[in-house]
Amino acid sequence: MTAGKKIASPGNGRFITLEGGEGAGKSTQARLLAAALAAEGLPVLPTREPGGSPGAEAVRGLLLGDAVAKWDGVAECMLHFAARREHVVATIRPALAAGTWVVCDRFADSTLAYQCFGQGVARSVWDRLAEVALEGLRPDLTLVLDIAPEHGLGRAIARGDANRYERLDSDFHARVHAGFRAIAAAEPERCVLLDATDTEAGVAAAILRTVRARFALGSAG
Ligand code: TYD
Repeated sequence: MTAGKKIASPGNGRFITLEGGEGAGKSTQARLLAAALAAEGLPVLPTREPGGSPGAEAVRGLLLGDAVAKWDGVAECMLHFAARREHVVATIRPALAAGTWVVCDRFADSTLAYQCFGQGVARSVWDRLAEVALEGLRPDLTLVLDIAPEHGLGRAIARGDANRYERLDSDFHARVHAGFRAIAAAEPERCVLLDATDTEAGVAAAILRTVRARFALGSAG
């Protein structure tokens, strides 16, 4: 593998992902971050996984719906990476190449946390699928929103629309939580772990400070 292969974001855009367990507030924070970057005059594309392109959204319906109770874990990983491949090819790479900042609600770390740490799929499976599906693309910055699963799940269930993963048991969610912390600790140059128990405004401010510092943006506004 050449050194250039690992370079994030081709083109001038930046690729920022938000990760974390259930009820961490990722979706709200992704929206707030995208709005803040747009307010600074940057071209921004908010997107999410599973989904983010027509083909990937179709796979999302399968993954989150109730039609199939359970797949083999490797097959489930492959479905997430199939959706991700579509998303990368159809949405993320073209946006980055056009100089757009992509703010993505979940990405490949979610598969590592949920399917590998949570469901017990081998890390080597993730490594091989990531190599094929991503061809070296990795986020410039990953914001990992940290919240204890009993706290976050309560929030998610209070919303009343629990998906297939949210309904899994507390041991599963504890493994996912530990997984996200391990991912953040293993790649400190890419990942920043943020306390998601703070207020929405407090978390948003911490995210903006992190993004400004990482990309040397001005602090006005
Ligand atoms: P979503 O409704 O987008 O919820 P959230 O607000 O928690 O992101 O549901 C996505 C669900 O899919 C979530 O429970 C985590 C799970 N997931 C995986 O298990 N593996 C993955 O690779 C991704 C992207 C998501």
